[in-house]
Amino acid sequence: MARLTIIGGGRMGSALLAGLISNGWAKASDCAVVERYDNTRSALVKRFPGVSITDMPEPGESVVIAVKPTDVEQVCRALPAKSFERVLSIAAGLTTDTLETWLWRDAHVLRAMPNTPALLGVGASVVARGSSATDDDLVWAESVLSAIGVVVRLPEQLIDAATGLSGSGPAYIFMVAEALVDAGVLVGLDREVARVLTLQTILGAARMLAESGESPEVLRAAVTSPGGTTAEGLRVLESRAMRAAFTEAVEAAARRSRELGAR
Ligand SMILES: NC(=O)c1ccc[n+]([C@@H]2O[C@H](COP(=O)([O-])OP(=O)(O)OC[C@H]3O[C@@H](n4cnc5c(N)ncnc54)[C@H](OP(=O)(O)O)[C@@H]3O)[C@@H](O)[C@H]2O)c1
Repeated sequence: MARLTIIGGGRMGSALLAGLISNGWAKASDCAVVERYDNTRSALVKRFPGVSITDMPEPGESVVIAVKPTDVEQVCRALPAKSFERVLSIAAGLTTDTLETWLWRDAHVLRAMPNTPALLGVGASVVARGSSATDDDLVWAESVLSAIGVVVRLPEQLIDAATGLSGSGPAYIFMVAEALVDAGVLVGLDREVARVLTLQTILGAARMLAESGESPEVLRAAVTSPGGTTAEGLRVLESRAMRAAFTEAVEAAARRSRELGAR
């Protein structure tokens, strides 16, 4: 019996499996992947030697559902009652209430929302539990999700807020990157030079935020000398209401997540 079964061997499912095996959470022989697409199954067999790769789930200890949201109902309804001790879904927008109605009575259900950098092991995930899941189930889900980055436990009503921030957040940063590259070209830099400088600037700033132990405010003040160039640039960003734009973007994305979840 597999300790962990992942249903859906796509991008997220395989990133999770790779993380769990490489960080020693599980041995390949403890894991199973269920994937309906033949070609993907063949690729998974090559990439993950020792992992059981099948087209139908076998009962096991715990299961992660990593298929597209539109495929989740069919996956849940096809699982025999009590075939797993706990079920973690990473499908965007599906509430634990909904998942519980598709599974057996008293199923221990957990729901997580990872973001795209999880594909590189540097994701930000939030996780919430359903009505029958226990603290032990949450601890288990956190240990699984930590294979693809940082995990934060939240009450389920805050998952939409996190979706607006960390779920959609990578796209906000990608847009900032696009804008900076174009701005670099405008002030006379070659596009490739502007791209390299932008990427390294974002990476460097992110590492300073993560590794210096200082708040964003302190780091920003430290590079803003009185009457200097950075102060002049920041003045323009403030006058163009950059903060308000981010506030409204996160609010709007969180609202949209609530709307999509309620459908
Ligand atoms: N990618 C991200 O950055 C990200 C971020 C946050 C949340 N998520 C969530 O993660 C989930 C997976 O996303 P993904 O990007 O990994 O999708 P994906 O690459 O499309 O992977 C899903 C895989 O599951 C397979 N599948 C579908 N139904 C199945 C079934 N009944 N039995 C077995 N396998 C089945 C699909 O096969 P077919 O190709 O035949 O359909 C596909 O190979 C989604 O619910 C998404 O909301 C993803």
